Formats: sequence, C-alpha cells, structure tokens
Amino acid sequence: MSVNAKLDRVALFGATSAIAQETGRILAGRGASLVVVGRDPHKLSAVADDLRARGAARVEAVQADLDEVGRHAALVDGAAEALGGLDAVVIAQGVLGDQEESARDVAAAERVLVGNFVGPALLAQAAANRLAAQGAGTLVGISSVAGDRGRGSNYTYGAAKGGFSLFLQGLRNRYAPAGVQVLTVKPGFVDTPMTAHLEKSALFATPARVAAGIVRAAERGRDVVYAPGFWRLVMAVIRAIPERIFKRLKL
Ligand SMILES: NC(=O)c1ccc[n+]([C@@H]2O[C@H](COP(=O)([O-])OP(=O)(O)OC[C@H]3O[C@@H](n4cnc5c(N)ncnc54)[C@H](OP(=O)(O)O)[C@@H]3O)[C@@H](O)[C@H]2O)c1
Repeated sequence: MSVNAKLDRVALFGATSAIAQETGRILAGRGASLVVVGRDPHKLSAVADDLRARGAARVEAVQADLDEVGRHAALVDGAAEALGGLDAVVIAQGVLGDQEESARDVAAAERVLVGNFVGPALLAQAAANRLAAQGAGTLVGISSVAGDRGRGSNYTYGAAKGGFSLFLQGLRNRYAPAGVQVLTVKPGFVDTPMTAHLEKSALFATPARVAAGIVRAAERGRDVVYAPGFWRLVMAVIRAIPERIFKRLKL
C-alpha cells in the first residue's frame, strides 16, 4: 500500500460537483496540475478559472457526458497525456434522482443506475487500466453511505452506490499488485446542490470538510473512508439491525 501518495497530477471527473470542486481547490492551492471533466460547459469553465486563480500549475477543461461510457478510455488517456501521467483520478459524478419517480418510471430508474453505477464503474475500470499500465497511482471513487444498506426511501440510488462500492473493492483487490491504490469514499449528508431540496440538520457536512477528508485519505493510502468519519459507526449500527426488524422501519 502506498503511503503519502503524490497528488501533483490529478484528473477530476464530475468536476463541477461541489465536493469535487472543493477537492480541486485543495490541490490547486498546493500547485497541482489538473484535468477537470464535466458535462456543463459553463459550470466547467467557471470551475477551471477558479482553480487557476487558486494556484493550480495547469488546468485543462474537457467537456463530456460521463454516461457516454464509450468515451471513458479516451478521456482517461487524454488526461494522462495532458499531464504527463496521472498521480490520481477522482470519480465524483452522481445523480440523486427521486425514488418515487424511479419506482414508477423505468427510464428515471435507469438514469439513476447508469449515473451512479454503470458510468462510474466503467470509468473506474478505464482509470484502473491506465494507472496499472503506469505501475502506480490512486483511484478515488465517491460512493455513499446510502450503498451500505437498501432503504425504502432511496434504494435505486443506494443500490447503484452499493454496486459502485463493490466494484471499487474488486478493483482494489485486483490492481493492488500493480501498484494501484483504490480509495472508496462514503460521504453521509453533504450540503451541496444534490441535497439543496432537503431540510438541513446537524448531520450535514460542508463539501470542504468532505474534500479535506478525501485528500487526507488519498495521501495516506486508505482503502475505505467515511466522510465525516462518524458515519462509519452510524452505518455499522444500521447494518447490524436484523432484517426482520429493519423491513418494518420507515427509512
Ligand atoms: N451531497 C450528498 O449528501 C452526498 C452524499 C453521499 C454521496 N454523495 C456523492 O458525492 C458525489 C458528488 O456529489 P455532490 O454532493 O458534490 O453533488 P453535486 O454538486 O450535485 O454534484 C454532482 C455532479 O455530478 C455531475 N454529473 C452527474 N451526471 C453526470 C454525467 N453523466 N456526466 C458528467 N457529470 C455528471 C453533475 O453535473 P451537472 O452539474 O452538469 O449536473 C454535478 O456536477 C456524487 O457521486 C454523490 O452521489 C453526495
């Protein structure tokens, strides 16, 4: 396991996400070189300008819809070529969706499954292939505590995130001998555009706090990190509830 991993050349996928932006700001402040990939060109160019202003040595912006899985390998290779190799790849894109809509409308459910599982997992594979060919590098996948147990209020999103966590676990096991460090990040509630419609509570963290946890865990060569850390305990309790009781709870 690599410890104190370098984070000088980093590709951020889903870079317009609040958590990815804050992660990028930490790296930019240290003078890192970044490739930022996002689907909204206006948001993306604002993110790139912000990272340049904060001290990044270099920022390349690439517009892409990451649900288009056939583009992944070329996007990863392009980022590696632009930066002269990759120290880390961060996969941050995600869509919360609406469980009621997903239960009624197969197209809505498919968007959630593709946006949180199929797209991120296939992108993670493309990144792992590239990092393994280099013989080193860190792959960071942003999953969720929602993937730790299926709940009636968001099982489509939760199942997609749970699938992504398992996929990352498999990549970690397969590519560790090739020098690839795979970090699974499981945030709890974070105050970002994704949760703008939810009532806020003390359980919500800022994206800056989550980003600091991501950078620290990546540098330390961690495998799985809950962000903030107290969610590890919360989810251990939630996972321990017997199914015959859990199925009667309104969660
Ligand atoms: N906020 C939370 O409470 C929370 C909790 C646990 C996990 N997470 C995870 O954390 C990650 C970051 O989310 P966030 O909280 O920072 O929310 P956010 O600001 O809403 O970020 C989500 C980002 O994903 C991008 N995206 C979605 N589908 C994409 C696609 N097909 N191609 C390219 N970009 C795409 C969105 O781009 P557009 O701006 O173009 O829509 C948006 O920038 C997500 O994976 C999310 O599931 C969030």
